[in-house]
Amino acid sequence: MSESFRIVHISDPHFGTTTTEKITVLSKTIRDLSANLVVLSGDITQRARREQFIAARSFCDSLGSIPIMAVPGNHDIPLYNMLARLLYPYFGFIHYLKFPLNERKRFGAVEVLALNSTGRFRVVQGELHRRELNKLTEFSPAAKFRIVMCHHPMDCPKGSDEKNILKCAANDLPRFEDAKVDLVLGGHIHDPLARLSSMRYNGTHRPMPIVLAGTCLSSRTRSDAPNSFNLIDVCIKDDDVELDVTRYDLTTQETYVPLTETQFQRKGRDQWLSKVKNESLMLPQPTDAPG
Ligand SMILES: [Fe+2]
Ligand SMILES: [Fe+2]
Repeated sequence: MSESFRIVHISDPHFGTTTTEKITVLSKTIRDLSANLVVLSGDITQRARREQFIAARSFCDSLGSIPIMAVPGNHDIPLYNMLARLLYPYFGFIHYLKFPLNERKRFGAVEVLALNSTGRFRVVQGELHRRELNKLTEFSPAAKFRIVMCHHPMDCPKGSDEKNILKCAANDLPRFEDAKVDLVLGGHIHDPLARLSSMRYNGTHRPMPIVLAGTCLSSRTRSDAPNSFNLIDVCIKDDDVELDVTRYDLTTQETYVPLTETQFQRKGRDQWLSKVKNESLMLPQPTDAPG
């Protein structure tokens, strides 16, 4: 018997740096995709301000009854109010957004663990502390597909972002592999990515897909990556898994359209294969007929 699960992966909306029009379009696009879960991998606000958290909560409410899981990003901790940063760094995330820290949820054979990689003493680079890493050992034996989400990335497409990689990621990787994590989700660098961990890390004994989402709403885009999000389809059949990651980009016509599709396959519980497909979904643009 097979089991399918659909996730919309959004990241880095940086509420306070977006427009009402974009928010409306993204909300409708997500609702139309009939996902089982929305995951939001941090930098939900630009400056952890009350009105930005309230706008973000309003966006979440606009998605209707779809379950949402989230992690805080470095922008979701007060930067200038040092007292709030030191004493109540996650007040806005918990009180206004109404998300718990380090949440874990299981949906049939799929289990999702949202780990906090930010800290009051860290401004940009993230880190998983022992308390978070220990949660990797607590996946249910019934979870055939295991997802970990944190804000900071375990991989990046560009050398200029090496400084943004999760601190100690290479040291922590065996803990992920021992826990049979199947998918690591992140954001932070506003640069989408979908590839196996073995593309970056040598000597991995159980390579797993790493997927990053760009910024879904913010004007803080990179020159080669417009606003985007990922649609993730998981199909579990016995112990085998097919994983399909489709990147949706915001076009100049203010609609999100599928841009690329990357597929991964797992044979049995442990063997993730190199992606078997990675192709552009953009149709060739029509050219004007001469004359
Ligand atoms: Fe960000
Ligand atoms: Fe960030």
